[in-house]
Amino acid sequence: MSFPQRRPRRLRTTPAMRRLTAEFRLDPAELILPAFVREGITEPNPLTSMPGVVQHTMDSLKKAAAEAVDLGVGGIMLFGIPAERDAVGSAGTDPNGILNRGIAAVREEVGDELVIMSDVCLDEFTDHGHCGVLDENGVVDNDTTLEIYGRMAVEQARAGAHVLGPSGMMDGQIAVIRQALDEAGYTDVSLFAYAAKYASAFYGPFREAVDSQLKGDRRTYQMDAANRREALVEVELDLEEGADMVMVKPAMSYLDVLADVAAMSPVPVGAYQISGEYAMIEAAAANGWIDRRRAIEESVLGIKRAGANMILTYWATELAAWLKESK
Ligand code: PBG
Repeated sequence: MSFPQRRPRRLRTTPAMRRLTAEFRLDPAELILPAFVREGITEPNPLTSMPGVVQHTMDSLKKAAAEAVDLGVGGIMLFGIPAERDAVGSAGTDPNGILNRGIAAVREEVGDELVIMSDVCLDEFTDHGHCGVLDENGVVDNDTTLEIYGRMAVEQARAGAHVLGPSGMMDGQIAVIRQALDEAGYTDVSLFAYAAKYASAFYGPFREAVDSQLKGDRRTYQMDAANRREALVEVELDLEEGADMVMVKPAMSYLDVLADVAAMSPVPVGAYQISGEYAMIEAAAANGWIDRRRAIEESVLGIKRAGANMILTYWATELAAWLKESK
């Protein structure tokens, strides 16, 4: 009798065999492209810490959205960078604020061909860079912030967003936003809750992307990297409050959390491959230290394997093009 009889390598012998027996494969439809639109610029502005990513003009944003549609990308997540900031983030609730104009422009460009999502959070709009307003002691005031989120959400729905992504990690934000939307008649606008969002060093390049004014950190509202079980509390609360989809963020350093959430969630689960994850791979690839395309594909596939139904990635469009060409 020859040894060994069990040879798992048999299923790895040819590309065709590996393709046939793959347990997971990526699909452009599950990818979401995060995109930044900046007020007052006439040319797209490249980001130093995220090579290949730009702050868009209204025109270049529309082109990026149209290109995403052509390649079968599932959705776009919009962030706005205002020209003026204040303590309460007024540009976020202004119907003519940059994010709301960006949503309307994308909706006009692509209609319902792409799921249009937008960030419900104050950090891009406040002059102190926190995700909520501050009380007299400089602490982020949960309940005062909620009221502003409600108004912000209604304006984003009015502008034409299909899905809102509350990312501020205020307690009760999903319930308050749901109620505000329902009262304004936007009962069909969905909530994609950034349910388990951790305070992470990997958001670094995003700070450049949105020209963040933040000094300090977000540890009093975003989750502690030391906690796994607590993610389930956050997800359960968001589900009770009416979340239609839930997200784990960042992705790479939190794949265990993603797997836990995927195992218990009755609603679709997303994961956000964030700016620092993007920057690390781009930087290593630029140095010739890793194979860029393989590293990108492997990193996104890992997020899918951990249980994500939807993946936010700055490579969404490029990855969709690769997937199309390999079909
Ligand atoms: C908050 C928000 C952040 C990101 C998405 N939404 C920044 C933060 O919480 O500090 C980060 C995304 C990324 O790093 O790619 N509006």
